[in-house]
Amino acid sequence: MNVVVLLGAPGAGKGTQAPLLSDRLGIPVVATGDLFRAAVRDGTTLGMDARRYMDAGQLVPDEITVRLLLERLSRPDAGHGVILDGFPRTAVQAKALDDALVDRGERVSAAVLIDIHGDELVRRMSGRWICRTAGHPYHEVFSPPNVPGICDLDGSELYQRRDDQPDTIRLRMAQQLSALSDVIEHYRSSGVLHTVDGLLPIDGVAEAIDRELAAAGIRPAGEPSERAAG
Ligand code: AP5
Ligand code: MG
Repeated sequence: MNVVVLLGAPGAGKGTQAPLLSDRLGIPVVATGDLFRAAVRDGTTLGMDARRYMDAGQLVPDEITVRLLLERLSRPDAGHGVILDGFPRTAVQAKALDDALVDRGERVSAAVLIDIHGDELVRRMSGRWICRTAGHPYHEVFSPPNVPGICDLDGSELYQRRDDQPDTIRLRMAQQLSALSDVIEHYRSSGVLHTVDGLLPIDGVAEAIDRELAAAGIRPAGEPSERAAG
């Protein structure tokens, strides 16, 4: 089965690319940020705990995040493969994912780093609007919806995330990038890291991801996959 991890700084384009890749590979997206936002919206205890960290631009503690992710991966729709957006975010989470996959005789097929940093990330997050129903991302300039304020895909209202305020954007960058480096190293050393240029337009990033995954022998669910040597 294909387990594809999308890595990148806050605002790199993980949530934009994940559904496109999901359509192409025929496997669902699991995004821990979306799971946390749903828990906040539903007012659960988990949501109230997570919200304190998210509003402060910090990572939610590993124990809470790993439990949430493993519960989601145990559902039947994740049994044929999954695209992970925003998980793992720490070395501890990366190890927990490896261990859970080993128990099923599987491993991460590819980790794709959408490589981008600096001011462009701030521009992307501060112009972002996402939909209430599924978190589909839009951008005021780079990827506007057909009708302002309405999601093209499901018709729901668009809103701006609480953590996309300029102060919180700065905190997220300051507090999360060093853990991202640890995760990049984890996948580099296990030989499954692929890097694409995140400054390309949305279509260009999607094409670059396709090229990397094809070179790694990753094919849509149902077709036999050939893992590249090494
Ligand atoms: P999460 O929701 O995962 O946020 P993030 O990682 O900070 O990433 P973003 O969603 O901000 O960016 P993205 O890469 O998805 O970019 P997007 O595609 O939207 O996490 C939120 C919080 O939850 C965390 O801060 C943390 O507190 C907690 N959390 C989540 N997972 C956790 C974990 N595993 N451990 C601990 N805590 C966790 O694109 C951004 C904008 O740019 C959009 O407007 C888009 O339209 C535009 N855009 C995208 N690509 C392009 C392009 N190529 N060209 C031009 N514009 C583009
Ligand atoms: Mg996202």
